[in-house]
Amino acid sequence: MPKPIYVLSGPNLNLLGTREPEIYGHETLEDVHRLVAARASSLGYEVVCRQSNHEGVLVDWIQEARESASALVLNPAAYGHTSIAILDALKMLSIPVVECHLSNPAARETFRRKTYVSLAAAGIISGFGARSYELAVEAAAGLAR
Ligand code: DQA
Repeated sequence: MPKPIYVLSGPNLNLLGTREPEIYGHETLEDVHRLVAARASSLGYEVVCRQSNHEGVLVDWIQEARESASALVLNPAAYGHTSIAILDALKMLSIPVVECHLSNPAARETFRRKTYVSLAAAGIISGFGARSYELAVEAAAGLAR
């Protein structure tokens, strides 16, 4: 069995389902995690799904992924637009990183157009709601092979 794909989510994504559903959809984060687990399993991978509202915790998990993961799917949420600490942690990874967003930040406020995470990601999947995560896991599994 290969190492799992880490699926990490940043701040406020624990509120999915009730948080601005017109933007982020009605699925809860648990629903999203179930979807990605099923998709990953069909591709021969397990997933480790975690969410934190804290930047340093996300940095710790990204560092952990260096040894423990086959690939990383990251929805950095607002930290994608602000966090050089997360970018620096991602730069230490030799596994593929796929950035993922439920909404399409490029079609929203201008401050969402820049993401530091993109500088270290193989690619971005955004705008497909919960399906963004599934597509990101698929891309990550493809890159990890
Ligand atoms: C988000 C987009 C970000 O701009 C925002 O801050 C989020 C969620 C998304 O999944 O669409 O919290 O990453």
